[in-house]
Amino acid sequence: GQVRGVPPGTLGREIRKVGIIGAGLMGSGIAVCFLGANMPVVLLDQSNEALEKGRREVGKAFASLVKRGILWDDLSRGYQGLLTTTSHYADLADCDLVIEAVFERMDVKQTVFRQLAEVAKPGAVLATNTSGLDVDAIAQASGRPADVVGLHFFSPAFMMPLLEIVRGRQTSPATLRTAIFASTVIRKTGVVVGNCPGFAANRMLEGYAREAERLVLQGVDPERLDRVITAYGFPMGPCAMGDMAGLDVRAYYLDALRAARLIPDDPAYGAMTRALLQAGRKGQKSGSGNYDYGADGRTPQP
Ligand code: NAI
Repeated sequence: GQVRGVPPGTLGREIRKVGIIGAGLMGSGIAVCFLGANMPVVLLDQSNEALEKGRREVGKAFASLVKRGILWDDLSRGYQGLLTTTSHYADLADCDLVIEAVFERMDVKQTVFRQLAEVAKPGAVLATNTSGLDVDAIAQASGRPADVVGLHFFSPAFMMPLLEIVRGRQTSPATLRTAIFASTVIRKTGVVVGNCPGFAANRMLEGYAREAERLVLQGVDPERLDRVITAYGFPMGPCAMGDMAGLDVRAYYLDALRAARLIPDDPAYGAMTRALLQAGRKGQKSGSGNYDYGADGRTPQP
C-alpha cells in the first residue's frame, strides 16, 4: 500500500541474513521470528553466558510453538540450525538487517550503534527495538541516520502479531520500505508510526496499565484484575504483562513518558512498579513481581 512520504515505486532491499544485538528476552524472541521465516540469524551479546541463555530461550520458544501445534518438530530443529552466536561486531558485516535489543539506556544504545555503523555493509538497515527512547538520537549516534529505523516488537515477540515501524526524521524511503518488507517476511502486522515515547500501542496501553496499578494500590488482587481483562478478550492482563516485560523496563519507560510530559508529573503514577522494584521484584526475570513464579520462572504460584 501507500506510505505517506515514500515515493511510489521505491523498492525495499533484499534481506538474506539478519543480525540481532542483545540476546535477552526480546533479542531471543526476535531471533525466533526470523529463524521461523527460514532466515539465517547471527545473535550478538557481550558474554558467552548471555549467548547461552539466549540460545536456551530460542529453544524454549520453538518448543512452545511445537506444543501449540504452530510448527512441526523437525522444521523447528531445522530453523534452530540457522542460528549462530557471536560477541564480535565484525560477524554482522554481511547482515542486510540488524536489530538492536540491548538494555533500554540511551548511552548503551548509542555506543552499540556507533560500533554497528562501522561494520554494517552500505545500505544495511539498522533497527532499534527501543520501547521508549528517541529513535533520532540513536540514529544520530550511528552517523548514518538514513539507514536507521525503529522496529518495535511486543513480548513474546514470536507470538505477538504487531510490529511498530518507527520512522525517524532521517529514515530513508528505501530503509522504510525494507522495514515494511521485513514485517511481511515474518508475517507480522507492520504499522508505520511516528517517533515519540511509547509510539502508538504502548502509549494507549499505558492508560490501562496505570488504572490497573491504581486498583492494585487500592487493594484489588492482581490476579482478579488480570482475570477481568482476559475475560474481556485481551490475551493477558496488565499485571502479568508487566511481569513478563520486566518491571525495571517499565520503570525506565515511565521515566521517558514523564520526561516527555506524556503522563502527569504525579508520583502516584508508577508507585506500584517502584514499590515492587524496591522489594527486588522485577517480574519473571527475578522469579517474582506482581506474582510469584515457580521453578520454570513462568508459572504464577498461588
Ligand atoms: P533484557 O535485559 O532481557 O536483554 C538485554 C540483553 O542485552 C542482555 O542479554 C544483555 O547482556 C545485552 N546487552 C546489554 N548491553 C549490551 C551491549 N553493549 N552489547 C551487546 N549486548 C548487550 O532486555 P529486554 O527486555 O530484552 O529489552 C531489550 C530492549 O527491548 C530494550 O530496549 C527494551 O526497552 C525493548 N523492549 C522490551 C520489551 C519487553 O517486553 N521487555 C518489549 C519491547 C521492547
